[in-house]
Amino acid sequence: MPPRPYVLLSCATSADGYLDDATPRRLILSGPADLDRVDEVRAGCDAILVGAQTVRADNPRLLIRDPRRSARRAARGLPAHPARVTLTATGDLDPRARFFAPGAPRLVYCATPALAAARARLGDSAVLIDAGDPPSAGFVLEDLAERGVARVLVEGGARVLGEFLAAGLADELDLAVAPFFVADPAAPRLDLPGPGPDGPMTLAETRRVGEVALLRYLLGPGGPDHRFLRWAVELSRLCPPSHSAFSVGAVVVGEDGEVLATGFSREQEDHDHAEEVALRKLTGGKPGRDPRLRHATVYSSLVPCGARASRPVTCVQHIVGAGIPRVVFAWREPRLFTDGEGAEQLRAAGVTVTELPGPAERARAINAHLVPSTP
Ligand SMILES: NC(=O)c1ccc[n+]([C@@H]2O[C@H](COP(=O)([O-])OP(=O)(O)OC[C@H]3O[C@@H](n4cnc5c(N)ncnc54)[C@H](OP(=O)(O)O)[C@@H]3O)[C@@H](O)[C@H]2O)c1
Repeated sequence: MPPRPYVLLSCATSADGYLDDATPRRLILSGPADLDRVDEVRAGCDAILVGAQTVRADNPRLLIRDPRRSARRAARGLPAHPARVTLTATGDLDPRARFFAPGAPRLVYCATPALAAARARLGDSAVLIDAGDPPSAGFVLEDLAERGVARVLVEGGARVLGEFLAAGLADELDLAVAPFFVADPAAPRLDLPGPGPDGPMTLAETRRVGEVALLRYLLGPGGPDHRFLRWAVELSRLCPPSHSAFSVGAVVVGEDGEVLATGFSREQEDHDHAEEVALRKLTGGKPGRDPRLRHATVYSSLVPCGARASRPVTCVQHIVGAGIPRVVFAWREPRLFTDGEGAEQLRAAGVTVTELPGPAERARAINAHLVPSTP
């Protein structure tokens, strides 16, 4: 069984938490800068999922707008646009909706009782999947995983976002808060059918994007260590592909939980390692420049390298040189390019090293072209 896809929930709300107003016209909550940010997020996903009511009410295109982003995907052997996915109990969908336009694969998860009618209505405009009765978010994710989807962006609406949250099936929530109020109880807002996720989410980022405030929360089991590590693994998907080096993601987190920097392999230069890039962003290559590192944790999808062919300084040396006291990693390096014992070297230098193998299979799958079989 492939691991279930990473689930990124994304929505924009008013300052009082509404996803739309109650009029038939779609309320635009994001500005151009935020729409561009979402376009970048879309470009990093295999599928975009919205509820059937959003298909009916908003008639979204669900395409990547910037052709350079589609071209980058195509260069990596991916379809130019992510698959479009929707979920329906009634099957009440119009095949003339933009969701069914050519340009991206279309998947419709439909409740069993409505399947025959939906098939008659939609014909071959989409792949129709019997999602059981009642359909569940968990079933959809299992089926998407079997179709090769590793990362899914859930863009709304209220009910679908709430279902993923209440089922504990969200890894990340990107919330863009617009600078105005809707103040209408009849308007849709996040709609959780049960209690929300256990405990607080982990705040990983706050950023001004034009006029909206972006809050990036991490969720999922295991608390902050597991969540930051899963995020590091996701960053590794952004690496320019290579046949001679691993794709790795790293997140550096301060003592108070603030994300200080992120990095991924080959992010700035050809031979960059993830930890090296993240630390370079903080210190400009001069260890000791950022005192926050003396209490920080490095999360890395792969154990930091202890031997290296491409450059003279290993990631272990970068980490020790910066005075970082703690490293958490997912995947132990297979002896493919070097035989450096990064974890042991870090421990010998007094760094606390924690191996959390939960996301190791995901980290390995991103490097499947280098290590095709499970070790
Ligand atoms: N601000 C934002 O970022 C944003 C983003 C997207 C949407 N929105 C807004 O959100 C509103 C729509 O939200 P919504 O809550 O009404 O609808 P929704 O979440 O888009 O879709 C709900 C529909 O999805 C289907 N569905 C959901 N869970 C299902 C399940 N477990 N099994 C079978 N079918 C399931 C059902 O379709 P059937 O009715 O066909 O059975 C249900 O009526 C719109 O106003 C839209 O503008 C806002």
